[in-house]
Amino acid sequence: MEINPAQLFPTLVWTTLFDDRASFNARLLDLAHQLRLHNPTGVAKTNIKGWQSPNNLQNLPEFEEMNLRIVQVCQRIAESQRFVPDLDFQLQAWVNISPPGASNQVHFHPNCHFSGVYYVSLKAPDCGSIFFRDPRVASRMMTYPVTSATEFTASELRMRPEEGRMYVFPGWLEHGVDENLSDCDRVSISFNVLAVPGV
Ligand SMILES: [Fe+2]
Repeated sequence: MEINPAQLFPTLVWTTLFDDRASFNARLLDLAHQLRLHNPTGVAKTNIKGWQSPNNLQNLPEFEEMNLRIVQVCQRIAESQRFVPDLDFQLQAWVNISPPGASNQVHFHPNCHFSGVYYVSLKAPDCGSIFFRDPRVASRMMTYPVTSATEFTASELRMRPEEGRMYVFPGWLEHGVDENLSDCDRVSISFNVLAVPGV
């Protein structure tokens, strides 16, 4: 007897790895440090101990290539999910520099279709994984008697970040970042994208 599951309402996290990540990230890392130099206080959001830039990279010409790539990835995802054509993809992006001991509280990103993160610099494997919380709220009513969690029974799932890889997910998907247990900074660029019908 064959038993096959059907996936209803899957929660998708899309990822893509940039071929030119070594040179691209070297430039972004330099730009990130320059931003912090000019605004050492940064902004306080979900970051604990970390530095976060204002969410204005979309207005900075030096981040044009990064901004373009974010929008291109989101456009491709939108096409794959049958969004209507000729949408205006409105971007907000910011830099995170998370030193040893830094983490991000669980949160979600309202008022956008896609959120994501691109990893600029991760020099140690334990510098903090991104984790996602099960969005099937009703599933919290009951736990499963399992030997180890699967993607179906888990209440949280982790993805170990990879330098040069972009992760994109629905803005409503709750997520956080584990504490950076390494002795290196974790540097990333986070973003929100809203797809608006053209006028
Ligand atoms: Fe986030």
